[in-house]
Amino acid sequence: MDLSNEMSSANLLQAQAHIWNCIFSFINPLSLKCAVQLGIPDIIKKHGNPMSLSELISALPIHPTKSNCVYRLMRILVHSGFFGRQKLSELDEEEGYVLTDASRLLLKDDPLSARPFLLGQLDPFMTKPWHYFSTWFQNNDPTACFTAHGTTFWDLGYLEPSLSHIFNDSMASDARLISKVVSNEYKGVFEGLESLVDVGGGIGTMAKAIADVFPHVECIVFDLPHVVADLKGSKNLKFFGGDMFEAIPHTDAILMKWILHDWSDEECIKILQRSKEAITRKEKKGKVIIIDMVMKQKGDDQSIETQLFFDMLMMVLVTGKERTEKEWAKLFSDAGFSDYKITPICGLRYLIEVYP
Ligand SMILES: C[S@@+](CC[C@H](N)C(=O)[O-])C[C@H]1O[C@@H](n2cnc3c(N)ncnc32)[C@H](O)[C@@H]1O
Repeated sequence: MDLSNEMSSANLLQAQAHIWNCIFSFINPLSLKCAVQLGIPDIIKKHGNPMSLSELISALPIHPTKSNCVYRLMRILVHSGFFGRQKLSELDEEEGYVLTDASRLLLKDDPLSARPFLLGQLDPFMTKPWHYFSTWFQNNDPTACFTAHGTTFWDLGYLEPSLSHIFNDSMASDARLISKVVSNEYKGVFEGLESLVDVGGGIGTMAKAIADVFPHVECIVFDLPHVVADLKGSKNLKFFGGDMFEAIPHTDAILMKWILHDWSDEECIKILQRSKEAITRKEKKGKVIIIDMVMKQKGDDQSIETQLFFDMLMMVLVTGKERTEKEWAKLFSDAGFSDYKITPICGLRYLIEVYP
């Protein structure tokens, strides 16, 4: 008795197609990485008009034996929406390549570029733990990252400075984009503050943007000692090395962008308790400002899938998870906070203000 007795040929082939599509989905991001490393978005941008295949080939830093492969690389990236095709001119039938919004966001020199995020997240150090995922399910290690690399993700950054560099750059590229949106459209969140500590603020990109827009706010970037060791501050920006599980400097407000999703509920409660101690002084009660994802059950297919990707990433690399509003609310109440306000900011990201 085999499946051919239970399933029609059409259903067998449909199931095979589904499996093939899933298996080879890894080809999309790795083809994009290749295009970005070859500088294809930048070359098309520099060209200025739709760029023919032959123009693209001659501008690319590739070996002549690979010229005939460029068309195939571009074809899959057009299919996945990273490049478009437009007529070379009004009179011309021939089409050339143009950028789409997604590839514009991958230009090397654009301050908001997601290029470091793409290259960082697809670095072999970051993808290796996925090959240890099922082993991790069967052992007692905290994460598949630990099983793959023999240490936690945060210690790995300390032990492997090159990884720390790639990861911090990748975070900074996201912080540039989010700080732009937040300081343009959600300035009100920082009104009235005299001080702010960006807990787990990395190399300080987000805090620098806030310090520039609000010169009267004293900003501190608080991160692990090796992350902030050689960083120089400015008039209203200082770097402070420490452990957020131990103590956080006193302040009017704490900012945590992409921090709590890295940690389990028990760990988050500890971080939130340290935060509450830091913002509560005599008669003064400040707030915690969280920038993170809020899981939704409904939405377009792409955003639901992206949420699930992030949640899995948090399970494989660190001990965290993505949370629904109900799960966030429970965390806040378990850590002793009395109220919160959630505002959607951009894409899948939310700004959550939490009050003692
Ligand atoms: C996902 S990154 C987010 C960086 C930054 N907030 C951003 O969104 O661009 C998490 C940060 O938490 C920091 N971190 C990890 N463990 C920490 C600890 N125990 N105390 C302080 N910072 C910590 C990491 O070094 C890293 O910079």
